[in-house]
Amino acid sequence: MTPAPARNLKCESLVEPLGVDTSTPRLSWRVEGSRRGDRPTGYHVLVASAAEPALTGIGDFWDSGPLEAGTLPLVEYQGEPLRSCARYFWRVRWRDGDGILSPWSPVASFVTGFLAAGEWKPRWVSRKDIREFTARGNVTLGEARSPSPQAHAIYLRRDFPAREKAVLALAFVSGLGCCEFRLNGGKVGDRVLDPGWTDYRKRALYSTYDVTGLLRPENAAAVILGNGRHVKDYGYGPPMLACRIEVEYESGDRDIIASDESWRTSHGPLRENGLYFGERYDARLEMPGWDLPGFDASDWTRAVTVQGPPAVSQMMPPVRVTETLKPEKSWSPAPGVRVFDFGRNLSGWVRLSVQGPRDAEVRLRHAELVDEAGGLNVAPNENAEAADLYVLKGGGPEAYEPRFTYHGFRYAELTADPDTVALGDIEARFVHSDVAVSGSFRCSDPLIDRIHRNVLQGQLSNLMSIPTDCPQRDERHGWLGDAHLAAEEAVFNFDMAAFFVKYLEDIRLAVRDDGSLPDVVPPYLPRLYPADPAWSSAYPTILWLCYEHYGDTRLLARHLPYVKRYLDFLGRAAEGHIIRTLGKYGDWCPPGSIVPKKTPVELTSTWYYYHDVLLLGRISRALGRNEEARSCDRLAAEIGAAFNAAFLGEDQYAAHRMSRIDTYPDQTSNALPLFLDMVPLDKKDRVLGNLLRSVARIQDYHVDTGILGTSILLDVLCRGGFAEAAFRVVTRRSYPGWGYMIEEGATTLWERWEKLTGNAMNSHNHIMLGSVDAWFYRTIAGLSPLEPGWKRILVKPTPMGTLTSAEATLETVAGRVRSSWARSEASVWLEATIPAGAEARICVPLPGPESAVLESGKPVFPEAEAAARTLGLVPLGKDGDWAVFDAGSGRFAFEARAGAGPDGL
Ligand code: BGC
Repeated sequence: MTPAPARNLKCESLVEPLGVDTSTPRLSWRVEGSRRGDRPTGYHVLVASAAEPALTGIGDFWDSGPLEAGTLPLVEYQGEPLRSCARYFWRVRWRDGDGILSPWSPVASFVTGFLAAGEWKPRWVSRKDIREFTARGNVTLGEARSPSPQAHAIYLRRDFPAREKAVLALAFVSGLGCCEFRLNGGKVGDRVLDPGWTDYRKRALYSTYDVTGLLRPENAAAVILGNGRHVKDYGYGPPMLACRIEVEYESGDRDIIASDESWRTSHGPLRENGLYFGERYDARLEMPGWDLPGFDASDWTRAVTVQGPPAVSQMMPPVRVTETLKPEKSWSPAPGVRVFDFGRNLSGWVRLSVQGPRDAEVRLRHAELVDEAGGLNVAPNENAEAADLYVLKGGGPEAYEPRFTYHGFRYAELTADPDTVALGDIEARFVHSDVAVSGSFRCSDPLIDRIHRNVLQGQLSNLMSIPTDCPQRDERHGWLGDAHLAAEEAVFNFDMAAFFVKYLEDIRLAVRDDGSLPDVVPPYLPRLYPADPAWSSAYPTILWLCYEHYGDTRLLARHLPYVKRYLDFLGRAAEGHIIRTLGKYGDWCPPGSIVPKKTPVELTSTWYYYHDVLLLGRISRALGRNEEARSCDRLAAEIGAAFNAAFLGEDQYAAHRMSRIDTYPDQTSNALPLFLDMVPLDKKDRVLGNLLRSVARIQDYHVDTGILGTSILLDVLCRGGFAEAAFRVVTRRSYPGWGYMIEEGATTLWERWEKLTGNAMNSHNHIMLGSVDAWFYRTIAGLSPLEPGWKRILVKPTPMGTLTSAEATLETVAGRVRSSWARSEASVWLEATIPAGAEARICVPLPGPESAVLESGKPVFPEAEAAARTLGLVPLGKDGDWAVFDAGSGRFAFEARAGAGPDGL
């Protein structure tokens, strides 16, 4: 049978990317085998400068010839030197295990940006007389404190001709803090809040647009600039623009239209704007035709050149509006005031359509909560005013949605004169980094499914070109702790490859010469150097996760020296391998407190030091640096010994005295060392027993952990053989737990285990407790990578509690991976899908001690080795409650029957 063509072609982990700025981009694709044990035995890639040759089988830039199958998941381009600002077409075919060639895949393309460092030295421009607002005087919104100084939005434009028909016209645009790029009267593309956030001292990101089809003989390039994060508070200047339009004509001639002092600037209808503050849009000040060619901009002022950072390509999924939600309900708590409930907590804004007289105003405020009288409770927004104002121009229906702000909300309050202003559609727009969905999970327990959905909603609300902590209050920062605790769940659920490549670069650029990292990246708050080690662990943790899930070795090599520098910093900070000085937050937000009350911060700091040294060892080993890896292992052993000497008592870590005679086992302090196997063998059972005592007896099957302990507690219980306890904890509906949040109406996850509604740290859309979702995938559905890039896969579901079924499907870099199980009293059925070329260890849960296992209806366990081998399985015997097999690719259907004889009957 002819193998199916490869699918899902990507370049640098992105589909059809524009602005590729490496001269050796990596290409990747997926194949599907047609039979069990199938594996690709070779590939053939063609890269061409025109779609035609790629279609006819000629790769004028690269004809790879036979490529070994082992080169996946990322195949480095090795053809003729690529040109900047050019489009390339490519396709691939593959050879299956029988040596049969697939047809060519469909043609994919990528467009290069500027390949050589410094090839585009952008000239940044801005406006001379920036209108700033600093005080409440000219800000009429909200009751909260005044926002930090911001500028009114800046409008820039210039006309340019196109001399003849263009074959390729590319626009490279970066506007700090955020910008909207328009050409000939319309917005180009669907990016919002663009470009992604970075430390603007180091770099800005440019977005690449293909505008070939938009060019006319006379053109107008136009940009609106907002403040975003490019604000004085963070040490940056007023908004500024870097733009370059490269036009290649049919004749081969080229034109370059770049930002310079020939651009004209003005203020316009969009005035005050700030991420936290909101927007003030005065439609009376609109300038019809300002973005069309021929507009008379003679009374606009010339742009001025300003200093700016280097620009690099934004090679990540953009922030977009991904969903539009109608309100589920609305009510009027006071005359002229309407509150809309959009049904779930989200990041974004409200789009409105209204009709009314000129000068009429519509005010919008946003909140996660309402009070008992149905009014907005804006207290959790803290100093974020989160309010938008629209002033009508009158004369017909008008539509408005913000551009340069976003809010975290479920409820929006609209205030307008009910006698004169008629409301049309009022809709919520869900806005976040538009990462592709790559995983799905569901099970028979509705509460677990509900937690999963809340995690997804919370995760997406907290991807805004960086991982954020929350979308509603005046933070929304890249808190590294929150980022790494959610990262594993994120890579299961979404294709985070390109997103994290960008974020790891943000982290790398934040490593100071002394090796220290801040708690928040990009480091907008420099006072946050040096970080709590439990936060800065994000660097090696996310790096290693990316390697495990996406198999990207180049990424490891790029970051290794900086991870080392960071760990040297920790090493210097440690005293006798114990880190006593750097901890600030530790096991943050345990029940009843923001700060950890039971878990010593020195314990969590030192544990993360140990954890990160282990990871550095693995990273070094993956890069073939075995001597360095061994020295990391030695250092880890020393840290582990010091950790035990410092924190391990008779039979538990960091015991807390409850009374004179009894001590109180702390869940986090005991779970962390168990998780990394640090506990001396002779004490392991007692430590585990104490942990269980806390979970089961003292806390009645509730978590008593902050964000750090929560991320590993359920794993530790399951590995220790207490899956039933883990199940009870996760399905609790009483305080504290995920189920309690849901009982209390949560549609995302909270920052605190408590339901708090005041003006304090109690966001209702935090993602750091979302780490539980990774455990759903790994333990309930049973999927995890055993080798980087999912080349070897573990399928090991754990039926537990009252669960009767679960399933997860993952689009991994190796192909589609699936685990789906169901059980009755006497049987367990497991279906597993392993992609072509990958291998798996499949652990089939046994319903009882004397169980037999069938696959495709044939007995394979126990004592059925020969039969198993004919089905492509190598039986490895029993391990606890599972029958274990090694397998190649394919789809497997197991059935385990209790009390069955060796023939399976
Ligand atoms: C953030 C957290 C963060 C913490 C660190 C908070 O304000 O919202 O999620 O990790 O500070 O202390």
